[in-house]
Amino acid sequence: MIPHSRPTIDHEEAAAVAAILDSGQVSQGEEVLRFETALASLIGVGGAVAVSSGTAALHLVLLALDIGEDDEVVIPSFVCPALLNAIRYVRAAPVLADINRETFNVDVQDIKRRLTHKTRAVIVPHLFGLPADIREIVALGIPVIEDCAQSLGSCYEGAPTGSFGAVSVFSFYATKVICTGEGGMIAANDARLLEKIRDVRDYDEKDDARLRYNYKLTDMQAAMGLAQLRKLPSLIGRRRAIAGRYHDVLQESRSSLPICPSDREHIYYRYVIRTERLPELLAAGREAGIAYRRPVFKPLHHYLGMTGYPETDTVFLSAVSLPIFPTLSDADVKTILGHVQSILK
Ligand SMILES: Cc1ncc(COP(=O)(O)O)c(C=O)c1O
Repeated sequence: MIPHSRPTIDHEEAAAVAAILDSGQVSQGEEVLRFETALASLIGVGGAVAVSSGTAALHLVLLALDIGEDDEVVIPSFVCPALLNAIRYVRAAPVLADINRETFNVDVQDIKRRLTHKTRAVIVPHLFGLPADIREIVALGIPVIEDCAQSLGSCYEGAPTGSFGAVSVFSFYATKVICTGEGGMIAANDARLLEKIRDVRDYDEKDDARLRYNYKLTDMQAAMGLAQLRKLPSLIGRRRAIAGRYHDVLQESRSSLPICPSDREHIYYRYVIRTERLPELLAAGREAGIAYRRPVFKPLHHYLGMTGYPETDTVFLSAVSLPIFPTLSDADVKTILGHVQSILK
């Protein structure tokens, strides 16, 4: 079976975690601080706060921005339900926007149409590793939360995603660009905002009884995260090499391939093509032992029983994600290409 995705973990992560185990300091400590500093420096922002997941990061950001009941937060429909959940945690209202069928990212004009006097923030995922139209979205004047769960290391006009919005969030789930098993981070220049988030990330030894959480990352996870960060250039390099190979061979196929505008640097967290033969490809992959996937399990407007998202619907009915991860072998890439071509010819 060729899996769809797989973490890249070797003796470096094992040694880093073993050193933490030997130290006896396994919960949140100095290693978490080092991981925060390293990520903030990579993104080029003032600071970062590590948390237990990308979802926890989104939750704490919404809280820190004082978003709650009667407030609206705009998100694309074509994304995982983590965004919807975080908005529900704070009892705000999700407002869904449509996407661009070529880039899969949220459509700026559609965001504009959906803004009201209640809009308090826009969450902008850089989906599949391709930066969204972040400058135009920031220019709308609504606080932007960049969702970099899938885009660590990608750039827009030479600057890292995560450095444009008021604040950005990251996920280090097992199959993400870098992995700590589960984990997340919030990065921003606003020291006051980060301090608010740091305060509610854990509950012990506080002077007041404000509602707080246990969203801490452990030093074991941070050690793994630091080892992964050191490998980031090579992890992304291998993703790009595989994407290049897919691109060269599939140009001839009857499918539309991922595009990347010249002002952006794609990291190919996912390699997503669109084809009219999606059901055939998924079924044939199951038989051949190749894990093709729908890149978004179900658009959010389907969960909410809504209509009015034609681009998202078009993409949902045609988009398929081919296996891509740094340890995918050249032989497996060849097998996948042969199989895709045999179905799409
Ligand atoms: C775009 C995006 N945002 C947020 C999340 C949530 O991250 P986590 O799974 O770490 O809670 C994910 C995870 O799949 C994601 O893809």
